[in-house]
Amino acid sequence: MYLRSFADGNGDGTGDLAGLRARLPYLADLGVDALWITPFYPSPMVDHGYDVADPRGVDPLFGDLAEFDRLVTAAHRLGLRVTVDLVPNHTSDRHPWFLEALASAAWSAARDRYIFREGHDPDDARGGSRPPNNWESNFGGPAWTRVPDGQWYLHSFAAQQPDLNWRNEEVAADYDRTLRCWLDRGVDGFRVDVAHGLVKDRQLRDNPGRYTWEMHGHGAETRYSWDQPEVHEVYRRWRVILDSYIGDRMAVGEVYLASTAARARYVRHDELHLAFNFHLAWADWDAGQLRAAIDESLAATAEVGAPTTWVLSSHDAVRHLTRFGGGEVGRRRARAAALLLLALPGPVYLYQGEELGLPQVEIPPAAIQDPLYERSGRSRPGRDGARVPLPWSGTVPPYGFCPDGVEPWLPMPADWAALTVAEQQGDDDSMLALYRRALALRRTQPELGGGSLSWYADTPADCLLFSRQPERAGSALLCAVNLGAEPMSLPEGEVLLASEPGVVRELPRDAAAWLRPG
Ligand code: GLC
Repeated sequence: MYLRSFADGNGDGTGDLAGLRARLPYLADLGVDALWITPFYPSPMVDHGYDVADPRGVDPLFGDLAEFDRLVTAAHRLGLRVTVDLVPNHTSDRHPWFLEALASAAWSAARDRYIFREGHDPDDARGGSRPPNNWESNFGGPAWTRVPDGQWYLHSFAAQQPDLNWRNEEVAADYDRTLRCWLDRGVDGFRVDVAHGLVKDRQLRDNPGRYTWEMHGHGAETRYSWDQPEVHEVYRRWRVILDSYIGDRMAVGEVYLASTAARARYVRHDELHLAFNFHLAWADWDAGQLRAAIDESLAATAEVGAPTTWVLSSHDAVRHLTRFGGGEVGRRRARAAALLLLALPGPVYLYQGEELGLPQVEIPPAAIQDPLYERSGRSRPGRDGARVPLPWSGTVPPYGFCPDGVEPWLPMPADWAALTVAEQQGDDDSMLALYRRALALRRTQPELGGGSLSWYADTPADCLLFSRQPERAGSALLCAVNLGAEPMSLPEGEVLLASEPGVVRELPRDAAAWLRPG
């Protein structure tokens, strides 16, 4: 749930906890098991809440602690688990610790909670006027900003998001408190933001390569800034806390590393339970790429005995309906992709709006809010196009997201009348109906969800065909996806669900089906 875009409960044009609570029955009907809610903590909102000023409170924009408690109770009553976002890599520059650091002397204890350093060469003619190293911000530009006394501080994202020093015990102890505070309030787990980045190279050495946004990876360009061996100590420490609570409490890391082997190290038995796996989100609509992404993902986590996870879209990426071609082609492919996704073994993360078939939206430059746009020198449009509020009902903006006459925080397209929840609820052929059916089957068919996956031999190169076996003995279920131009003939069997109408023996292009072999 990208909270600020889900549903507005107090009529100010921004989604909030009360709005989400009012719409929980929609999520229960959809058939999901759990929610992951993006940050709702007090924040200046430079990065829309990923700049946290108090990790144990609620920003008035989103509600208050009592409203949060009501949300958790209501979700649990409907059988929905609640996962909250934890942002440990950085704080807001308005966090009391950072304000104290700015007011304190160089090398003071207050500065040691963050990463303050002298410039590259403090004795050069310009007096250390170059940043300490060559690291770049994920949002563009140098990862360092200078303060008036001449020191620099590290920020892997916006300058208003200073990176914490995870080698400082006070920082670690404070996060223990934060974990306990939300676990005590009844949350079922955490999504850990930038989980691969918490600990930095002790000497802050230059990275041997240049980072670019498109690399989404790991290698020379992030050798000393990401995935340092000591980061695993943080997750071992957190696992002890999670395991000390009754119930199934869990943590899933945003481990944004291209190497599946590196990512698997985060889900060893005494660390995080799950790690996001972005391989499907990086793959094109191409049978070879999708198959390789699936195989690599399964192999890597099998080695450490953890399940893999799957995701096609998120609040940080271009929506997959658009990525797969947009328009009618994109819509067909997104329907097929939903059946592929939900047939895979292990937890699946859906991003709000994909169940409605929402496309990426082009936001007029004047309305862009994402800090990535300005920091990249306006060379990258930013992520707002995937964050447009959800259309709930009606025929014109704001489509029931907020009261008529109130401006939603991002402009909503004029042509979304057919995409609203209300419109799709009454339509058996809608994207929403497809997701509901697929999720209901996934819940009732033991072959889906857990178990194993095996590919059929002799499948045409532009098609995917695999069977899914339940963990215990039982019959298999097949998933077929046709990414080629020609129709694909299906094995004998009963079609349980197809992404296009009328599928019996043949699967048309850009379509998928689940079959019970006959
Ligand atoms: C993660 C979040 C993203 C945020 C960034 C900085 O990648 O998903 O939205 O901007 O971390 O916290």
